[in-house]
Parts: sequence; C-alpha cells; structure tokens
Amino acid sequence: MASNEQGQSGLDVQPKMSINKAAEFLGISVQAVHRKLKAKNLVCPKIGNKAFITQEIARPLFELKFKNKIIAGQIVKGGTGKTTAIDNIACCANSFGAKVLLIDIDPQGNLTDAHDVDADELPVLVDFIQEGIKVSDGIVNVSPGLDLIASRIENVVLDNILMLKKMNLEKVFHNIFKSVIKDYDFIFIDCPPTMGASVTAATLFCDLILAPLNPDKFSAKGLKILKSEVKNIDDQYDKDIPYKVFLNKFSGNTILSDKAIATIIADPDMEGRALQTAVRYGQEIPNATDANKSLFSSLKKSTLRDDFEALTMELLEIKSPRSNSRATSGKASSKKRAMEEAV
Ligand SMILES: Nc1ncnc2c1ncn2[C@@H]1O[C@H](COP(=O)(O)OP(=O)(O)OP(=O)(O)O)[C@@H](O)[C@H]1O
Ligand SMILES: [Mg+2]
Repeated sequence: MASNEQGQSGLDVQPKMSINKAAEFLGISVQAVHRKLKAKNLVCPKIGNKAFITQEIARPLFELKFKNKIIAGQIVKGGTGKTTAIDNIACCANSFGAKVLLIDIDPQGNLTDAHDVDADELPVLVDFIQEGIKVSDGIVNVSPGLDLIASRIENVVLDNILMLKKMNLEKVFHNIFKSVIKDYDFIFIDCPPTMGASVTAATLFCDLILAPLNPDKFSAKGLKILKSEVKNIDDQYDKDIPYKVFLNKFSGNTILSDKAIATIIADPDMEGRALQTAVRYGQEIPNATDANKSLFSSLKKSTLRDDFEALTMELLEIKSPRSNSRATSGKASSKKRAMEEAV
C-alpha cells in the first residue's frame, strides 16, 4: 500500500465520535464509557480537554461484527449526492470502527478531491486494467481504517477499453480487487453519472447499489432510469441486483419533498428498497466539502451529521451491542416518524 504522505492525513480530517455519542450508542453513561476505555487500556486523543473516539479506539471499544458489503453509489442523474453520500457513509462507518475502502471510478475524481489526494502519480482503475498494476500499489491510506483508490480524468477511457478488450464485465472488478476485499468491512464505489461499461462492471461486482434521489421534479425520472438500468443488467446477466434509494436534499417543509416521498412510496417496485432515512438539505455539506472534510471530521453536532449517521446505521445494519439501546438519534427517529406519517 502506498502510505499516503500526500492526502490530508492527520487527526484534523480523521472521522471522530464524541464520548457522549458513544455512550448513547452503547446505552450506558459517559462515566461507564470512560471506565470501559480504561479497562481496555484505550487512550483517546483530545481536542483541548475534550476526549473523542477514532476508528482505532472504536473498533476494540464497540467490538461490532460488521456485515461486510460492497456498495456502489450509482444513478445516471448527475448531482444527486452520490459522492457526498458515499463519503459521509464511509466516514461514519469508520467512526464506528469499520475498515473501509473507497474506490473512485468517476473520471471527475470528486471523491479523490474530497480527500485532497493528488491522483497524478497514483495508479488508477484504468492502469490496473491496462498495465496490470497491482491494486495494492494504488491504495492510499487517508486515515486509520480508511483507504482510497483515486481517480483522475484518464479513467474517462475506461468504458472504451472494457469494450474494446471485450473484458468480462462480471469478473473484471473481482479479478482486480480480490486480493484486498478481505482487508475491509465495507467497500464503497463512487460511480460517474453515466451508464457505460465501467458502471455496469461496478454494478456486477457490488452487493448493493445505493442511489440518492432528490425531491425535485426530476426525481421520478431519476427513479425510472435507475429501475430500467438495473433491470437491463439483471436481464442480461441473469441477476437480481439489489438496490436501495434514499431521499437526499430533503426538506420536510416543501411540497416537492412530500411529492418525492409519495412517488417513492406509491411505486410497488420500491417496496423494501426505499430507506426510511432521508438526508436533509444543509449548507454544512458544501462547507465541509470546501474544507476537504467530511461531516465526521469534526465533533460539531449538526442535523446533517445526524442524518448521515442514521442513514449509515440503517444501510449498513449497524446496531448497538445492547439491543435495547436506541440505535438512532432522537432527531433522526422523529424524522422517520414524520416520513411514515407523510405516507
Ligand atoms: N444534503 C445535501 N445538502 C446540501 N447540499 C448537498 C447535499 N448533498 C449533496 N449536496 C451538494 O450537491 C452537489 C452535488 O453533490 P455530489 O457531488 O455528491 O453529487 P453526485 O451525484 O456525486 O454528482 P455527480 O453525478 O456529478 O457525480 C455538491 O455541491 C454537494 O455539496
Ligand atoms: Mg459524484
């Protein structure tokens, strides 16, 4: 692995969890969390005098058994929040102790930029395929338990290469990544807003597609395209690829958001596919992106952080080791109720 000297590695960008949040998650008091930490000889880093939890602490503290998954953020409609969702869900999972690999296959390289990684000197997907470069040579460690395979504009030829070389789209990702899959609890692939061979290959490799929908008048169209593209792949490859959708840039007070929920719920194909958690619209997202951070890089409370936390727990089935403790924050639960009532 190329240990990353170049990304913004360091405590500043590393996903974090407050001790209060850990206590809420474990269903115990803050004092009991401190006792647990001490008993396990875990020493938390601090900002000022405020101790917090990072991936290296969360893993032995929570001892969660993650349900391993490969998830591709994918929908042809651009700008709905694929990269934002993939990044924040990955960082949130990491804050619970998960080992995560982010794979950027979008030639725009937005996920790569989000981690301030300069892909110029790094092998990217097209190099693994064309040059036979080992995938481990392209893995950048962004922060403990959080790795990235970067992308740059050269990946724009991926679709052509996969087609010209007549590569087996069902196997190509597996063959490239098989040596590292076991190293991670979760692998997230950030796809471009297109439906070429590279996205098909990612779709055939993943366990689940995650598609953010926006509450605008194009949401129904986005959903329709997603359904037909997955059906095409299912038919062609005799598969039944699972996909889940969630509402991003949601605003509880707008008719458009209500309409979007109604569209999703009224669609019989969406049964069991619509995640209950919606992510609200919030300035925190562009602000965090601008600072090359995720919402989980700081301990600052925010509604968007609550939303992504609830979404991550729902999507990745992260549950408190104490079955009777509350798995989601109060705010997220009340929003779930609001969505259910909106139906
Ligand atoms: N919940 C949100 N609230 C506010 N802004 C958001 C939210 N989610 C995403 N955004 C903003 O929307 C824009 C598009 O998001 P993002 O880049 O994640 O979309 P994308 O689907 O990956 O786009 P593309 O199709 O180009 O890859 C970005 O400016 C991002 O900051
Ligand atoms: Mg994107």
